[in-house]
Amino acid sequence: MTPEDALAAAARDHVPVLLDEVVAALDMQDGDTVIDGTFGAGGYSRALLEATSCRVIGVDRDPDALAEAARWASLYGDRLRLVSGVFGALDETPKEGEQIDAVVLDIGVSSMQLDRAARGFSFLRDGALDMRMEQTGPSAADLVNGAEEAVLADILFQYGEERRSRALARAIVAAREDAPIETTAKLASVIAEASPPNHPGRAHPSTRTFQALRIAVNDELGELARGLAAAERVLSPGGRLAVVTFHSLEDRIVKRFFKSRSSDGGAGVSRYAPGPQERDPASFDILTRKPIEAGEDELARNPRARSARLRVARRTDAPARPFDPRGLGLPGLALEGLA
Ligand SMILES: C[S@@+](CC[C@H](N)C(=O)[O-])C[C@H]1O[C@@H](n2cnc3c(N)ncnc32)[C@H](O)[C@@H]1O
Repeated sequence: MTPEDALAAAARDHVPVLLDEVVAALDMQDGDTVIDGTFGAGGYSRALLEATSCRVIGVDRDPDALAEAARWASLYGDRLRLVSGVFGALDETPKEGEQIDAVVLDIGVSSMQLDRAARGFSFLRDGALDMRMEQTGPSAADLVNGAEEAVLADILFQYGEERRSRALARAIVAAREDAPIETTAKLASVIAEASPPNHPGRAHPSTRTFQALRIAVNDELGELARGLAAAERVLSPGGRLAVVTFHSLEDRIVKRFFKSRSSDGGAGVSRYAPGPQERDPASFDILTRKPIEAGEDELARNPRARSARLRVARRTDAPARPFDPRGLGLPGLALEGLA
């Protein structure tokens, strides 16, 4: 199979998560424009383009996502515009005067990334230890072979919530003294050797380490904070923001962002103040008190949906706040990166 065929096959294999729920939540009308900040295999974008005669600005930082989309994007003419870049700057994508009615973010990796060994995201597929979505800059191998032991331990603990972070960081440093750790299989074997025997039904011992490295390599939590703030700046009044996350670190950031921007969080009149008190006016109304999760049918079709959480909010006409990532529950490492 050529690399192009492998890319096309992986794109076909990507099953969009909570698709019906996302399309319903965005409530697009004919003529509306949505920014799909995590275009991936284009699953959400295509469903939105088919549902109404809307326009989509599709953003992705991975050149492979856009290369694959180039094969079919012309089907939608000028209703689909592809932009190479990060969603942390999604407010720079509209043209002069273009109104944005919705933003959707589907945080995480696509099948095109996870299922292709050469991208180095998965401990189940042997390949170069890479994990760079943008395919430039320092890779996971650079981090694993170059970072100090204490920094590695902090990454595993803060981004992987790995309780054995110190022991695993020590094992990585001991292994790399023999020879650099350059492949996913080598890292997975170092982790397995330094871990207690795995029990059936428990997550693979490398799960948290690989998650942590991926987040660090791509500054995923910093990007999420910037992306939410950019959505607040770009959305017009009444516009909707829908965010799908896959683990608790991400979901906490979205939940706190929405709460801090709504009248039941840091905005509006404080419930705890002795008398009415002026606070920043609410810039979002929360539409999902509890996150939306996949139903039984979807879980049977797509086990990857098990950890997905969808939160949705509607923009008010209050001004956007200056970007301040404090109070969103970002781990210290991510906050340092944003400072
Ligand atoms: C889970 S996939 C999205 C799948 C998509 N919703 C679909 O239905 O095909 C996530 C995509 O977002 C991209 N991505 C992740 N973080 C990004 C960021 N900060 N800026 C732009 N794209 C990002 C990844 O490269 C990947 O292609």
